Amino acid sequence: MTKPQVTVVGGGMITNDQILPTLYHMQRQGRIGEIHICALTARPLKDLADSELFARAFPGQMFCAYPELSGDLDRPCPNLFREVIAQMPPRNIVVVAVPDQLHFDVIMTALRADQHICSVKPLVLTAAEAKVIEEEAFDRGLLVGIEYHKRFDDRSLMARTRYRAGLFGEFRLGTACLLEKWYYRLSNFQNWCTVENSDAFTYVGCHYVDLVHFITGLLPAAVSLYGIRDKYPNGNEGFLWTDARVIWDNGACLNVQNALGFPDAAPGTNTQGLTMYCAGGDNGALISHSDQYRGLKYSYTRNPGGPGATIYAEPSPDYLQYLDLGGPGLVPVGYGYRSIEYILAGAIRLEEETDELAERQKRLQQIDATGIMATPKNSRYNELVLEAGRLSILNGGREALIEYGERAGVRLRAD
Ligand SMILES: NC(=O)c1ccc[n+]([C@@H]2O[C@H](COP(=O)([O-])OP(=O)(O)OC[C@H]3O[C@@H](n4cnc5c(N)ncnc54)[C@H](O)[C@@H]3O)[C@@H](O)[C@H]2O)c1
Repeated sequence: MTKPQVTVVGGGMITNDQILPTLYHMQRQGRIGEIHICALTARPLKDLADSELFARAFPGQMFCAYPELSGDLDRPCPNLFREVIAQMPPRNIVVVAVPDQLHFDVIMTALRADQHICSVKPLVLTAAEAKVIEEEAFDRGLLVGIEYHKRFDDRSLMARTRYRAGLFGEFRLGTACLLEKWYYRLSNFQNWCTVENSDAFTYVGCHYVDLVHFITGLLPAAVSLYGIRDKYPNGNEGFLWTDARVIWDNGACLNVQNALGFPDAAPGTNTQGLTMYCAGGDNGALISHSDQYRGLKYSYTRNPGGPGATIYAEPSPDYLQYLDLGGPGLVPVGYGYRSIEYILAGAIRLEEETDELAERQKRLQQIDATGIMATPKNSRYNELVLEAGRLSILNGGREALIEYGERAGVRLRAD
């Protein structure tokens, strides 16, 4: 069988930090073929192509760039991804890594060209769009996997198994936070993560909402989202500090704080974690994950450089690191790698196992039901939470209620 071609649409931070190292490694292992990357302009692709880290980790490997690197690096080509996808042989893989509000267009373009999809979170910003994607993919027997990489942190899988075995009783009260560093405000975020499009909760809070469902199986029932408007360096306005209260279908309450505001001088690339207090029959139970401080304390002789680097650091060995295992190059490891690899491996397996539409649809239903991979069908609550959060934040934090089933949607609480 020919190895699947993988086209990434979007060449920004997440492509640099997680997607491309994973793809290069899978290519080196002989599991995927050519890698194509399409961005709005060639500028970020030039950075990826010139990366010293990639040259060291993946010697001799390169991707095909669209737009080409030999032309004007700053000429925007917003529709080029359509041509790039149209040129792909059917039933290969498209990885979607553009800003949130563009996901739907890129995903539907790829599905109509008969491609499997790995999308960065959030899949899309509305449940109605997620349903359209679900139906289109199912009709064509194509896999759509949504990359919520915290699911592939071993601690999440441990908690899920133990929770579902009854060892924690029932979730009651919880608190989660994920605050990115202040310097994020200087990046391309200021051009798209603005009040009209998104907010700190929509951008990163969704990870912990997804994780609480992943661990417990509970569904979010209501969201109140308070946001503070703040200015980016370019003058655009964003909800850069948010506080969310998510009520679950068993009455449990999760508080989620998010911001682009963790001090640049602080150790670690951000601060994040989850604490869940639970009730057993006659005792309390606790799940507590420090997701930023993982027990490592490094104090270097000098600042090692790179975005957000500090002399005193508490690096995570678990998200994505490059290890020297004797070469050639370096090996990317961690849940960032495992998460993308899991979705791509699912698409490859589907292609290898069967060509029959009915059989492929049966496999897709199994993937939905197993619930390890987030799919449009089994993680619709994420789009509903985003919709509820946006409705709430734009209405001064009023509570927005979520409904499932035929009448799936969100509305402000009447009183
Ligand atoms: N923790 C996570 O799971 C995580 C972390 C970071 C980002 N993300 C998600 O990844 C996505 C991208 O985020 P990022 O931080 O890489 O953003 P970014 O701004 O660094 O990069 C966005 C990329 O999209 C490209 N792009 C924009 N319009 C395009 C078009 N019309 N055609 C082709 N390419 C286009 C840009 O050229 C750029 O390379 C977002 O949806 C974000 O929410 C997820």
